[in-house]
Amino acid sequence: MCGIVGYVGKEQAAPILLDGLSKLEYRGYDSAGMAVYDGDKIVINKTTGRLKVLSELTHDGATMPGNIGIGHTRWATHGEPSEVNAHPHFNENRTIAVVHNGIIENYQKLRNILVERGYKFRSETDTEVVAHLLDYYYNKYDKDPLTALVKVIHRVEGSYALGILFADHPDVVYAVRKDSPLIVGQSEEGNLIASDVPAVLKYTRDVFFIENGEIARLTKDTIAFYNVDGEPIEKQSKHIDWDINAAEKNGYEHFMLKEIYEQPKAVRDTISPRIKDNDIVIEELGMTDEEIREIKKIYIVACGSAYHTGVTCKYIFEGLARIPVEVDLASEFRYRNPILEDGTLVIIISQSGETADSLAALRLAKEQGIKTLGIVNVVGSSIAREADKVMYTWAGPEIAVATTKAYSCQLVAQYLLALKFAKARGKITEDELKEYLHEMEMLPNQIEILLGNKEKIQKFANRYVAAKDVFFIGRGIDYAISLEGSLKLKEISYIHSEAYAAGELKHGTISLIEDGTLVTAVVTQEELYKKTISNIVEVKTRGAYVLAVTNEDNPDIERTVDSVIYIPKTNKYFTNSLAIIPLQLFAYYVSVGKGLDVDKPRNLAKSVTVE
Ligand code: AGP
Repeated sequence: MCGIVGYVGKEQAAPILLDGLSKLEYRGYDSAGMAVYDGDKIVINKTTGRLKVLSELTHDGATMPGNIGIGHTRWATHGEPSEVNAHPHFNENRTIAVVHNGIIENYQKLRNILVERGYKFRSETDTEVVAHLLDYYYNKYDKDPLTALVKVIHRVEGSYALGILFADHPDVVYAVRKDSPLIVGQSEEGNLIASDVPAVLKYTRDVFFIENGEIARLTKDTIAFYNVDGEPIEKQSKHIDWDINAAEKNGYEHFMLKEIYEQPKAVRDTISPRIKDNDIVIEELGMTDEEIREIKKIYIVACGSAYHTGVTCKYIFEGLARIPVEVDLASEFRYRNPILEDGTLVIIISQSGETADSLAALRLAKEQGIKTLGIVNVVGSSIAREADKVMYTWAGPEIAVATTKAYSCQLVAQYLLALKFAKARGKITEDELKEYLHEMEMLPNQIEILLGNKEKIQKFANRYVAAKDVFFIGRGIDYAISLEGSLKLKEISYIHSEAYAAGELKHGTISLIEDGTLVTAVVTQEELYKKTISNIVEVKTRGAYVLAVTNEDNPDIERTVDSVIYIPKTNKYFTNSLAIIPLQLFAYYVSVGKGLDVDKPRNLAKSVTVE
């Protein structure tokens, strides 16, 4: 995610842009920039680092005089955080400037076409393609901005919210969106565009919510709207009564809940650009099928929730690609002198890309000449930079300490890798791959369905705010899901919780089960149903209250357990992506019910950069 703003009115633009961007920093904060028309030309300033660096550089905007401008705070997806990759991007002669939130999925193809037409690129970003494409169509179609914009949005694929300045039209800001949020604010001081409501609330509470394919044309006194073909349309403004703090969370009470609800989009953003014509394209992997066939063993190394995704995906890499996998906690891996032989691939998974143990594990593998791949959310982070290859998750900034959307993106990133490896090694056919991809592309919608259960889960959670011990059990992938469900609960509710391989209960833990102890049984692996059911009976006879999370086609389980949460049917390898949703919501509502600081739990940090 990134944050974009724009302003045109009677006030100086730059201070208003900086103020708006400061309300959007939660959307991205690795670099920032502004473009302001100074009466003669478009002046552009960009910096890496937090927004305050840009404010200092421009003396809070004083060095960028002008009444019209656009601004951007970045969460890098394509191209490292750097000044050249920061927005705004612009055409050769700086007469067109663009800020963008989203991912242009066909940017590489368009970039190649533009290069053939003589365009020169400065950055590695997908956004710069938009600036040059606008230039191309602007000059091709009588220098008409609206026509140029309509042509561009019919060519680009992916998601975008764009703010645009044309030096030849210095009294107009253009904006358009598809799948990335965009609003227009109307105020006495002038008119504004922004990725989100918080950026304009200081000036107005009357906003227009832009729908997909809609274009906005703002001057200091007028706002006009057009459809995707450039035909005028009418829109009604809405009055916002949120306070600014709530607005930064898009109206959600906590960032964690907001991020739980962002999972459908985050998962879609992570998989869609990598599925083309029923095949998997992971350009950043940089491995030929031949090199994939040479892999003899995989280590998945991570911490916390990232480690739990590795425990899940061991079953998938081994089940589909038939590659032996070891999953290690990074803090153990780095000190146990692992035997890393030729043909080994070490995959380091990390949302922050800065976890000290995971970074040390990466360095250990590299010292031994082992090929390393990072699966990372923060572009340009240490692990992303130091791994031989990096596959980014596109979850956007994750603010809550307890990970949710990044976790879900780490899962699907590994699903894609496992399927790509399986196909390259001839373990699955084209048709089988097509079916797997179809089921994977269903996940965002199925997550959406599960998010509709929140009232039922909140009610259930309220019964356990005083719980002392909660257990999660499962077998195979269900055990991995139990690990994450247990961590979510304990890290934000401070309730002691443990996850157990269901078959392990009788080796000790079952002695802890008492009357009313909550045991959450994850039962999504059909071939293990019977085994897990017998473990459920074991704890039931000792007084446990059992909540089952199981597939919608397994209603018989109601004869054995006390409560059931059903998940939509999906491939057995993908059930974690669905079963984890109610467990995230359960943990969230228990924490809320206890009145705790959900987003910043005690003793924890978003990134553990110390050992
Ligand atoms: C997850 O909810 C926790 N906050 C924590 O376990 C986290 O997953 C772990 O610290 C790893 O962080 P990373 O993904 O940034 O490396």
